[in-house]
Amino acid sequence: MRLAVLVGGKGRGSNMKAILHACKTGRIPSEGALVIAPKDDIPAVGIAREYGAEIAILSPKEQHFAADLVAILAAERIDLLCLAGFLKLLPVEVLQAMPDSILNIHPALLPKFGGKGMYGVRVHEAVLRAEQLESGCTVHYVNEQFDEGAILWQMLCPVEPGDTPETLAARILPLEHECYVEAIRKWIADHGKAGRKASM
Ligand code: GRF
Repeated sequence: MRLAVLVGGKGRGSNMKAILHACKTGRIPSEGALVIAPKDDIPAVGIAREYGAEIAILSPKEQHFAADLVAILAAERIDLLCLAGFLKLLPVEVLQAMPDSILNIHPALLPKFGGKGMYGVRVHEAVLRAEQLESGCTVHYVNEQFDEGAILWQMLCPVEPGDTPETLAARILPLEHECYVEAIRKWIADHGKAGRKASM
């Protein structure tokens, strides 16, 4: 089992870190991990280096992004691609190259509060505006639409009176880390990809 994490341009990298940590401790039985980032000078890449992960720099702005990403995933024998903070749709070539093997995390309870433009603080603002009593996060399969693939794993938390988008985001973020690790474990169990060893 080999796993890659694709991070976005902001590249805070906290979900990536949770995944790398779980690989290191053996909680995710992955034979190492590859981090794919759009540029070198983002926090996620620094964290990836600290974990000794392999790093590939590839920007979605590049003309041959789709072909290059497919080539990297094949060359690195990646079984599962995890999006973490990657805000664009993936090209169809990438989806076809990795059927049922690309996951994303969203900071709300899909199918509500997802879709184009729904990321970051906007998601939590929408949850509060809709006076929801609970929120949480969702790991889902990636398809050609924003946040519409089948749901793999969710975790819930209450929305507290007086919550702001920021307090709600802060409650959900640690839940995301746990949710992503559990979702990957479930994916591995479902796909029979037994890890040979945790070698990171
Ligand atoms: C997370 O909130 C995730 O749900 C969303 O993008 C954010 C990435 O944060 N898809 P981080 O870079 O993992 O800290």
